[in-house]
Amino acid sequence: MMNYVQAAEAPSRNTGAIKIYDAAEAFPGMRAAGQVAAACLDMIAGEVREGVTTARLDDLARQFAFDHGTLPACVGYRGYRHTLCTSLNHVVCHGIPGDRVLRSGDILNIDVTVIKDGWHGDTSRMYGVGEVPRKAERLMDITYEAMMRGLAAVKPGATLGDLGHAIQSYAESERVSVVREFCGHGVGRIFHDAPNILHFGKPGHGEELKPGMMFTVEPMLNLGSPGVKVLSDGWTAVTKDKSLSAQYEHSVGVTETGVEIFTASPAGLHTPHKRA
Ligand code: MF3
Ligand code: CO
Ligand code: CO
Repeated sequence: MMNYVQAAEAPSRNTGAIKIYDAAEAFPGMRAAGQVAAACLDMIAGEVREGVTTARLDDLARQFAFDHGTLPACVGYRGYRHTLCTSLNHVVCHGIPGDRVLRSGDILNIDVTVIKDGWHGDTSRMYGVGEVPRKAERLMDITYEAMMRGLAAVKPGATLGDLGHAIQSYAESERVSVVREFCGHGVGRIFHDAPNILHFGKPGHGEELKPGMMFTVEPMLNLGSPGVKVLSDGWTAVTKDKSLSAQYEHSVGVTETGVEIFTASPAGLHTPHKRA
């Protein structure tokens, strides 16, 4: 039996080439998918607190996806069984929801992808639980700013190297490191499409950006060294040195003049990690 992603992707395929979508056709669909994913992260912001399990957050997100006319893209994807990735503290990405109870001082990334009418909306944010150490808060601030600097570099004529450089140069100037083993990706009818979006690079290098391209920008930054390893569950990626890691993610499209963020928060909760 096909899973949700296989069904959504059936009419399309990853040819290795960067797809140029017709913005008038694709962007409304990506906006609609992206807004449900972003609204899901808004809803989760009200549920992250001490004593809650990550499995509970996953249940809420799955129900939210179904209630809003979408399918959770990760369920059945390469054998994954959950709606969310919940990546705590030194987990870099792909943390698996389970019976882990959130405790004061935890930081976590929550990553959700939904499929609406065949379009994928993929986004993640950082959340803090109770009293968060200042160095953790600082890492999350830098990670959000790094993503936004990457997005600010997106416009026709710029290159993927410009995007990567904007992220890397800022992150390293703040003395945090950029994870190399995981990257952003083309997104649209296909969940993980060409090109790879590296969060490091050299100005002027790499593919030139063109209107109608759609991809994610999802930098993972570590307080310590950039090295990661994947645990024996085959998913959970952690920092080798057990230092804290943070990530933010948006799905975006290249416009005639710059960038459109499909997954902007409808509630304005762009950085839920910031204490009110
Ligand atoms: N949402 C993740 C990304 O940003 C992918 C998760 S794949 C899963 O690309 F199977 F782990 F859910
Ligand atoms: Co994601
Ligand atoms: Co992604």
